Amino acid sequence: MSARVRVEREGEVAVLVIDNPPINAASAEVRRGLMEAIESVAGDPSVRAAVLVGEGTTFIAGSDLREFGQPLEAPQLPAVIQAIEACGKPVVAALHGAALGGGFELALGCDARVAAPGTVVGLPEVTLGIIPGAGGTQRLPRLAGVPAAISLICEGTRVKADGALALGLVDAVAEGDLRAAAVAHARNLAGAKALVRDRAVPGAEEAEIEAATRNALRKGKNRPAVRAAIDAVVASLHLPFDEALSRERTAFQELRVSREAFALRHQFFAERDAAKQPALAGTAPRTVRRIAVIGAGTMGSGIAIAVLDAGFDLLLLEQDEAALERGRARIEAHYAGRVHAGKLAPEVAEGCLGRLHTSLEWSRLGDADMVIEAVFEDLGVKREVFRRIDRVARQGAVLATNTSYLDLDAIAEATVRPQDVIGLHFFSPANVMRLLEVVRGAKTAPDALATGLEVAKRLRKLPVVTANAFGFIGNRIYAAYRRQCEFMLEEGAYPEEIDAALEAYGFAMGPFAVADMSGLDIAWRMRQSQAATRDPAARYVRIADRLCEAGRLGRKTGAGYYRYEGDGKTRTPEPAVRLIVDEERAAKGIAGRPLAAEEIQRRAVLAMVNEAALLLGEGVAQRASDVDVVLVNGYGFPCWEGGPVFWARERGLAALERDLDELAAWSGPGFVRGDVRHLLQE
Ligand code: NAI
Repeated sequence: MSARVRVEREGEVAVLVIDNPPINAASAEVRRGLMEAIESVAGDPSVRAAVLVGEGTTFIAGSDLREFGQPLEAPQLPAVIQAIEACGKPVVAALHGAALGGGFELALGCDARVAAPGTVVGLPEVTLGIIPGAGGTQRLPRLAGVPAAISLICEGTRVKADGALALGLVDAVAEGDLRAAAVAHARNLAGAKALVRDRAVPGAEEAEIEAATRNALRKGKNRPAVRAAIDAVVASLHLPFDEALSRERTAFQELRVSREAFALRHQFFAERDAAKQPALAGTAPRTVRRIAVIGAGTMGSGIAIAVLDAGFDLLLLEQDEAALERGRARIEAHYAGRVHAGKLAPEVAEGCLGRLHTSLEWSRLGDADMVIEAVFEDLGVKREVFRRIDRVARQGAVLATNTSYLDLDAIAEATVRPQDVIGLHFFSPANVMRLLEVVRGAKTAPDALATGLEVAKRLRKLPVVTANAFGFIGNRIYAAYRRQCEFMLEEGAYPEEIDAALEAYGFAMGPFAVADMSGLDIAWRMRQSQAATRDPAARYVRIADRLCEAGRLGRKTGAGYYRYEGDGKTRTPEPAVRLIVDEERAAKGIAGRPLAAEEIQRRAVLAMVNEAALLLGEGVAQRASDVDVVLVNGYGFPCWEGGPVFWARERGLAALERDLDELAAWSGPGFVRGDVRHLLQE
């Protein structure tokens, strides 16, 4: 018997137990074990039916992703499923925990599926740049219909047991003992096969299929895996089952070794690794039940919603009644909107709002286990706020700041307990964006940092640890990227050309459109405050200053790098901007030249690569792959490109060194070169 699959007996029913901790991944060893077990079921006349069940907390939660980049070992999953179909006896899948990807495909190859309440099922392959390759695109439409299968597969939807029952993806939800329920279900099949492959695909209106297709292509950004998944699902309507199955497999095999699939797997592992902190092993986080948020502005209210959603008690504190009321109104409107849209049960929303307390009384902070400050981005203001927190917060409370750029240590020094101070840099909207930079100050205690990470996890965020440095990881890399784009502006490309090139690369919005959306005045003020300390020899692009001086502060003034009319979002390039660009170019004696989209894209990514190398050299980022997690999840870097570090690793050392010679020449005086070897180490 295999070490990963054992066969037990419940009378005439064989129970095949998959035991491959922690997630029962469908590794080669598991597949071999299943194959042997199924052969024993087929060959044993005393067995009438079989049940497949996962040991521990889950059924097969997915395939072994590392295998997908290499030649696949036999037996492959389709062969295992074929053996189940051919074994002559009914096989019931007993699902609990997660049955995803190959795990769910295996279940679809069985004669019935019984799920424990709370189980999630789904085929998330497309989110990894591939398609289901073991019949998922053929069996799912036979159960749920083609339109639903298109959206489930293309969006990689995880469906909970009740929803799965409603869609026909599982046959029963077992309230009591899952294994007993599955064994009873297997007995009830009375020795007869009831395979999904033998069912007809339910008919669907052409218009419904077209609508599902359009929707999937739009949401999936028209990526190759989405297109391949749609083709495969639609083929279930007109191709014989086996032919469609072999076409699906061919598409899967091609996609799994595509660059995009490698990039998405890299991002998957980078996200998984980001939360790992070997240095904190054995450090217990402090207990956090009550959280206080100071400042009920854009960020404060978003953070408040994330905190309430996670089940914490929340105190929201402001400096004046009006701001507090605005914050409360924003939070209430958010929950009302979710309920109205049918996304949240009214009682859940009520529960969240029931845990929201608002106040102007600083003494109330004494109850909080964690305080998160989100007031104006001004060091003086933040230091004063931390002085006040210090006076009233209980001993051992973790004090966090949401600052975007300011010096965490300077903030911590305003208190007598810098060991309790961390940064929690949320992204806007804070209740939606998963990324969270967790900042370690010079004096931060390990258990304060561990508490930050633990709270991040409970808020369902994706934490990345960074040391204290101007702009931390994300804003610092973004600044280098934007600076390079400004250089290109000076050299001959107009804002709309640079934005178009980077949007074609995959950014949702180019850097100048983003600047207009955020407002040009914040960066303007920052440049003014840094003017005295700036290296006078370094290259400095004055175009943004000129726009601000002309009152063009971005969307909010109807004009910035573009003009905005009507809905205030539609951007139109303007001659006045070109004039400023041309004048600044002429003032520096630069003869403008056209820049091709490829050059714009390459220079923009290279600028990020160089800054990432600097950050790793300085120890601000601790893992190269963390950079990709930050850029993809916080700054709209296209996930299918993997991130700047993925890009750099693909180039390799020699090519990168040449790239940086070029970048140095393009950038001119003030350019600081990073050591790219930091990026190449896994
Ligand atoms: P905001 O201006 O919308 O809100 C700030 C709030 O703090 C206001 O409601 C104000 O009344 C309150 N406040 C100011 N001084 C206070 C005091 N002494 N005591 C109590 N409350 C006080 O600003 P926003 O955008 O929410 O930013 C807050 C912080 O979050 C800043 O440090 C900012 O850099 C950071 N941040 C902002 C992001 C964004 O996209 N807006 C993203 C990530 C971080």
